[in-house]
Amino acid sequence: MTVPQFGIFAQGTIAHEFIEFDLRPDVDMARATTALSQLRAPAVAAGGINLVIGFGSELWKTVAPDQAPADLANFAPIGRLGGHHAPATQHDFWLWISGSSQDVVFEHARAAVKMLTDVATVASERPCFVHRDSRDLTGFIDGSANPMTHEAPAAALIPDGQPGEGGAHVIVMRWVHDLDAFEQLPRQEQERVFGRSKQASIEMTGDALPADAHIARVQISDPAGEELPIYRRSVPYGTVAEHGLYFVAFSADRTRFDRMLARMFGTDADQIHDHLTDFSRPVTGSFYFAPSLTCLAELGERWGAAAVEAIPSSAEPAGNPST
Ligand code: HEM
Repeated sequence: MTVPQFGIFAQGTIAHEFIEFDLRPDVDMARATTALSQLRAPAVAAGGINLVIGFGSELWKTVAPDQAPADLANFAPIGRLGGHHAPATQHDFWLWISGSSQDVVFEHARAAVKMLTDVATVASERPCFVHRDSRDLTGFIDGSANPMTHEAPAAALIPDGQPGEGGAHVIVMRWVHDLDAFEQLPRQEQERVFGRSKQASIEMTGDALPADAHIARVQISDPAGEELPIYRRSVPYGTVAEHGLYFVAFSADRTRFDRMLARMFGTDADQIHDHLTDFSRPVTGSFYFAPSLTCLAELGERWGAAAVEAIPSSAEPAGNPST
């Protein structure tokens, strides 16, 4: 059985830290892979936290070409000249550390960075938090239509038998909100931006749902009309001066992200842009590949790194999976 990275699905974690890294120039690949495999050592990956690692397309194709999904690629900028757009800020790899308190997450983030310091530099680091009952900072519940825990693996993971099986495509974008502008809208208008009611997150349907509402832009389906879901794990971040959403989602295939972004940024056939992009703009954008734990363990053996043996084979994710 192919075992995915548990942290992708761990619930009940209120403290999050996301770190993007670039390999140092001319780094020796053997040294880099040894350092990466040591991330599973207890000082980094045990003690009440979840660790998820994602590899940029080029790095993954270098270390495990036989385990690279065919559609693995770097994030490409999207949008229209003079219109809303999403920049590409691709880095080599990405870590997501989550747990039930910020101090523990911080300690593990520090341990991870220390372990990698000879081979990689930190390109971006973002502590994030859960806001009220999982609300985006706009006040809208984020996650209502997310696949349920039992459906999430099918949405997020590459099916068995395909290169990269049990792994997931990851999209990572940091969005900066203009809350002052958004809060000037009457509540009814705010609700039309998302296509859901603010308090209870009730979905607008039929003619009531504006064509440029966020959910109308990101609901996509296959030729048979079956919905194509992604599994979102976004969390808010910020200071009073700058704040927004650290958007993270996992998908069994990359094209779902491409299609949703095209519909959000007005490059799809109908050229409508998501009204949400009038109030929030992405300032970073990367794609990563989060291989299965099984694959990471096999690679660890190949790289001869004893530290990978520290991967707990029956460990439960930190946090309370029922929340
Ligand atoms: C500022 C950035 C964003 C914010 C604040 C945001 C917020 C929300 C909210 C409040 C909902 C409705 C409740 C829910 O179902 O979770 C939602 C739904 C959704 N969002 Fe976003 N989102 C953002 C960016 C994105 C991006 C970049 C994508 C895709 C690449 C995306 C994909 C989705 C999907 C697939 C749904 C569920 C649609 C449905 O099936 O009804 N979102 N988002």
